[in-house]
Amino acid sequence: MLDKVKSLIAEVEKATAKTNEEVENFRLKFVGRNNVINDLFEEFKKVAPEQKRELGPALNNLKNVAQSKLKELSGSIGSEGGSVEVDVTLPGTYASEGSIHPITQTRNRIIEIFERQGFNVEDGPEIDNDWNNFTALNFPENHPAREMQDTYFIEKNPDVLLRTHTSNVQTRLMNKKKPPIRAIMPGRVYRNEAISARAHCFFHQVEGLVVGENISFKDLKNTLYHFSKEMFGKNTKIRLRPSYFPFTEPSAEIDISCFICGGSGCKICKQTGWVEIAGSGMVDPNVLENCGIDSTKYSGFAFGMGIERVTMLKYQLDDLRLFSENDIRFLKQF
Ligand code: DAH
Repeated sequence: MLDKVKSLIAEVEKATAKTNEEVENFRLKFVGRNNVINDLFEEFKKVAPEQKRELGPALNNLKNVAQSKLKELSGSIGSEGGSVEVDVTLPGTYASEGSIHPITQTRNRIIEIFERQGFNVEDGPEIDNDWNNFTALNFPENHPAREMQDTYFIEKNPDVLLRTHTSNVQTRLMNKKKPPIRAIMPGRVYRNEAISARAHCFFHQVEGLVVGENISFKDLKNTLYHFSKEMFGKNTKIRLRPSYFPFTEPSAEIDISCFICGGSGCKICKQTGWVEIAGSGMVDPNVLENCGIDSTKYSGFAFGMGIERVTMLKYQLDDLRLFSENDIRFLKQF
């Protein structure tokens, strides 16, 4: 038996393999479940004790030699490439990367344009009280915007609500900071509206506020003119239409010339040549006073625009719901 073991050791030591198949054959014979060495261990149980002294170590040696040989053989094939079928010139597996949401992209672009004009970015809460969202902003007690159909109130406390616009951050900012103030305030707002292609129960706005000495309507106009050209192209014109907001006087709606048809009339501008992008106006002195700012010394202008609206115009989209449906086919186009 000892001779058999010795000859197997010699066989193992000489073994070579050029293919995976040869390695596998070696493995089956010397290391696999029914290998020859196991058989020898079975026989070993029956040999006389005096033979065991020499045979035992020899058998163990055979087992170790076979195991390290197997490692050596499979290692050599793997590293040479041999028959392992890996073509390193093939393109790798595609890992999908995701993309920045179009609303975030527009928001970032708006911030970038205003930051270059010296605006800070400010933030405020989505859950606020009646004072910051309405009363300080000069909303009369019986103004329809306060009614239940527009505003989500917190049931247990009607003084607490989901902000209906980012103008609540204006109130907070003026209370916290003395003029000069020059800030934009992007964020999400909520309205109790039936969801359709044109309206949603939540959307995003960017509020703008400038307060200082000698701030005039001219500053408002130029700031938004500059923004419109940066956002929609350098040939963009703007138009201001008289409007009404409780917190501004005078108030104006800002239209830009339609950048699709250049003003000649198309579906996007409903044949008018103009599209609305923001509400704006000179901050009402009542609002300044409500926030502890001397309205005889300071004046200011404010504006508010919808991020969804700007995005829809820019990419000619016609359904607001797409932004919140998380449909990859839509999102990955941006
Ligand atoms: N808060 C208004 C809205 O949600 C938008 C707005 C209009 C904001 C005029 C302003 C402003 O700051 O001056 O419809």
